[in-house]
Amino acid sequence: MREPRRAEPPAAGPDRGLHVAIVMDGNGRWAQRRGLPRVAGHVAGARAARRVIDAASDLGVGVLTLFAFSSDNWRRPRGEVARILALLRRFLRTEARACVRAGTRLEVIGRRDRLPATLRTQVERAEAATATGAGLRLRIAVDYSGRDAILAAAARLPAEGAATREGFARCLAPGLAVPDVDLFLRPGGERRLSDFLLWESAYAELVFVDRLWPDVTRDDLAAALADFRARDRRFGGLPAPAARA
Ligand code: FPP
Repeated sequence: MREPRRAEPPAAGPDRGLHVAIVMDGNGRWAQRRGLPRVAGHVAGARAARRVIDAASDLGVGVLTLFAFSSDNWRRPRGEVARILALLRRFLRTEARACVRAGTRLEVIGRRDRLPATLRTQVERAEAATATGAGLRLRIAVDYSGRDAILAAAARLPAEGAATREGFARCLAPGLAVPDVDLFLRPGGERRLSDFLLWESAYAELVFVDRLWPDVTRDDLAAALADFRARDRRFGGLPAPAARA
């Protein structure tokens, strides 16, 4: 049985408030290596998502965005798409309860108009049930494309007035503001962005790990955060001592 989550907010720590984005890659290969159908990899991937959400909450991550289904994933066989979407619906149902207990606010980003009505309903329920969560902000990207998100934001820009970076960011996230991605983590051995959070990741630190997503543990997230903390983030400026000189 799953362990109950902590209800209290995470302790203050060096990673508090960071935005971590994860491409959950490698489910299919994980299953194939075991002689299992691909969907078994997605089921194991959902278990990994639970582990990593708990870890993010414990480690004081502020925002966690998980790429669950890309707008290009519609190209997969209809059966696999249906199984992933059904899995997501079940995940949202159980996750919403866990999020309420943990004080996690759950949001789903991406297009909703192409999702099955039952999944849309579940998304709305999960978001409503967790709307007052003051701990981890968990965002799950479903039918999401970074380029499409930028196009949609561009269409809203005229109403915003002047074309500034801040104004554009508001168009990109018309509801609750979203901080830029600090750590972009991709397990599964591939080294690409795959159309995920393109604007928001302008200065993200990229961490790639070879382990397939279903095998990812809280230690992997902790190690990625340690790697992140060792980076010198200059945002186009100079290292701190040189900047002071
Ligand atoms: C990429 O692995 C994974 C997906 C396209 C689906 C991700 C879905 C889950 C992790 C399960 C549901 C998610 C949540 C949040 C419950 P792949 O199939 O491309 O793997 P491969 O590169 O090995 O083929």
